[in-house]
Amino acid sequence: MRYFIITGASKGLGEGIALALLDEDHHLFCISRSENKDLKKLAVARNCKLDFHLFDLAVSMDIDSLAELIFTDIDKSKAEGVYLINNAGLIDPVKRVEDCSAEAVDMHMRVNLIAPMLLSSAFIKHTAGIRAEKRILNISSGAASNPYYGWSCYCTGKAGIEMFGRCITVEQEDEDYPVQTMSVAPGVIDTGMQETIRSTNERDFINREKFVDLKESGQLVPPGMAGKKLAGLLLSPKFRDGQAIDIRDSY
Ligand SMILES: NC(=O)c1ccc[n+]([C@@H]2O[C@H](COP(=O)([O-])OP(=O)(O)OC[C@H]3O[C@@H](n4cnc5c(N)ncnc54)[C@H](OP(=O)(O)O)[C@@H]3O)[C@@H](O)[C@H]2O)c1
Repeated sequence: MRYFIITGASKGLGEGIALALLDEDHHLFCISRSENKDLKKLAVARNCKLDFHLFDLAVSMDIDSLAELIFTDIDKSKAEGVYLINNAGLIDPVKRVEDCSAEAVDMHMRVNLIAPMLLSSAFIKHTAGIRAEKRILNISSGAASNPYYGWSCYCTGKAGIEMFGRCITVEQEDEDYPVQTMSVAPGVIDTGMQETIRSTNERDFINREKFVDLKESGQLVPPGMAGKKLAGLLLSPKFRDGQAIDIRDSY
């Protein structure tokens, strides 16, 4: 049995990844604030175990308990692989640095950076005795390495999660069954996050028009297609421990 913990599987890219992983030998644990009933129905139809944990990842202090609850459902003796996909994220606040409120910066960092860090930490602790493949996939962005006007929080969070993944790889180097990590920028996907980007105003985000053009010229990737690629990479020998890549360059 392979176990997958996926954050933000209720919609967008996370839903696309979860759909690609529906299989009778897989057990999916989906974490988000809302449920995806269609995904649950499809899981039943495909004989795949799927549990939704309705949880707000901004509540940092409860993440350990959530992980504990999930790992009680993971049979360590049967696990062929255990995987964490840190996908949930938000783009707001989209504003110049001096216009971002303390509340918005705090919320952004809790969801986009602190939650993946705490989930990864819990994942490493709970999988310590498991002699199987153990992988963390961080959904990153080109914004991790390119500064964008108005996206200071988003760029900083993504850069942070890429470095955090690399630190895990260094710490796991001498383990017999190391937790491997990889960060992947998935391309520009047709999701709610892109709608939010297009609905910002030019003053706060000077590149807005470029994203409107991408949508209008049909250049956004469907989340199902992107999800398939990412799920394939997660389970393939091409998963490169400690690396941060852009899927458009490599696959
Ligand atoms: N779309 C793109 O073009 C693009 C490009 C590069 C990278 N990415 C990355 O891809 C990932 C997915 O983004 P997306 O485009 O699919 O965005 P999306 O459609 O807005 O979906 C975001 C997901 O994150 C979950 N989420 C947000 N806040 C949460 C919270 N406080 N607690 C729990 N779950 C929360 C949402 O679930 P609930 O609302 O149900 O809680 C939803 O499932 C993000 O990390 C994003 O940075 C996207």
